[in-house]
Amino acid sequence: MLFKQQALLRQKLFVLGSLAIGSLLYLVARVGSLDRLQPICPVDGRFRPHGQDEIPFRALQFKRGLLHEFRKGNATKEQIRLHNLVQQLPKAIIIGVRKGGTRALLEMLNLHPAVVKASQEIHFFDNDENYAKGIEWYRKKMPFSYPHQITIEKSPAYFITEEVPERIYKMNSSIKLLIIVREPTTRAISDYTQVLEGKERKNKTYYKFEKLAIDPNTCEVNTKYKAVRTSIYTKHLERWLKYFPIEQFHIVDGDRLITEPLPELQLVEKFLNLPPRISQYNLYFNATRGFYCLRFNIVFNKCLAGSKGRIHPEVDSSVITKLRKFFHPFNQKFYQITGRTFNWP
Ligand code: A3P
Repeated sequence: MLFKQQALLRQKLFVLGSLAIGSLLYLVARVGSLDRLQPICPVDGRFRPHGQDEIPFRALQFKRGLLHEFRKGNATKEQIRLHNLVQQLPKAIIIGVRKGGTRALLEMLNLHPAVVKASQEIHFFDNDENYAKGIEWYRKKMPFSYPHQITIEKSPAYFITEEVPERIYKMNSSIKLLIIVREPTTRAISDYTQVLEGKERKNKTYYKFEKLAIDPNTCEVNTKYKAVRTSIYTKHLERWLKYFPIEQFHIVDGDRLITEPLPELQLVEKFLNLPPRISQYNLYFNATRGFYCLRFNIVFNKCLAGSKGRIHPEVDSSVITKLRKFFHPFNQKFYQITGRTFNWP
């Protein structure tokens, strides 16, 4: 009899204990995402009737849940209708620069509850075949979102492709444009490293960076080399300025996004008229990766893929000096046009 009572007591204690642990875990998770539960201001600054001026907690669940299910093809049309979800054209585009940190910027902005990212690079404006498919094709490539959220896509090839500014202008002349830049020589080496890795994967040999970056006949910087040309930021920006005023651009410091991402993201929030929602809680330094990683809440965090943050090959210091000297006047012009100065050598 005594033994039976003890067993019953143990059973009750086990149930109570499980309940207590469950509640505690739930509370911790809620506190972890508290800043995301706060009602936020309307994205475009206009007042909305009560109920629409908040991004509900649902929005966060949607980002991790329904959206994911939809991508996998599991969410039903009915769910989409019930949640009032729409596929919206982007209100902001990260147009470049390749290897500037475009993926990190997009993923970090996606921490904001009012932002929904297009996961893939869509290459609508730079690819003639895609562009010919029309704007509805492009819109259908966008993720589902609540009407008060903004969609952002990134395709770094946009920055350097001739036809793109006019095409984007035709879609939306008041769109916000984000450009993330790094010190031009480092960016060029990063660009080279990506191509080199691709060749190595296919067991192909490739030239050394020095051979590509310096013209062997003149011993001058080889301006025909794409990795060099892409780093002449001012030349590309000048083409964009034929269509958009400088106020529609925001320049992100890609080198600072690596070492100190939060202030850079706060500047972007401001530029996009978003209420500040990304906090230090959302970003933590991962010593193994050597980069900041993303924390959505207590249970969900992620680092960028291993293809981001490659080890660069060593480059002859005289070549580096030559490249830096070459980029210098272009950089000065870039600072002057954008009003943002970097400490590039
Ligand atoms: P490296 O591979 O040269 O280090 P993009 O996404 O435009 O291709 O840019 C890739 C670069 O993003 C990487 O270049 C890396 O330095 C930078 N980056 C910035 N923040 C990062 C982060 N949190 N995790 C990984 N890479 C990051």
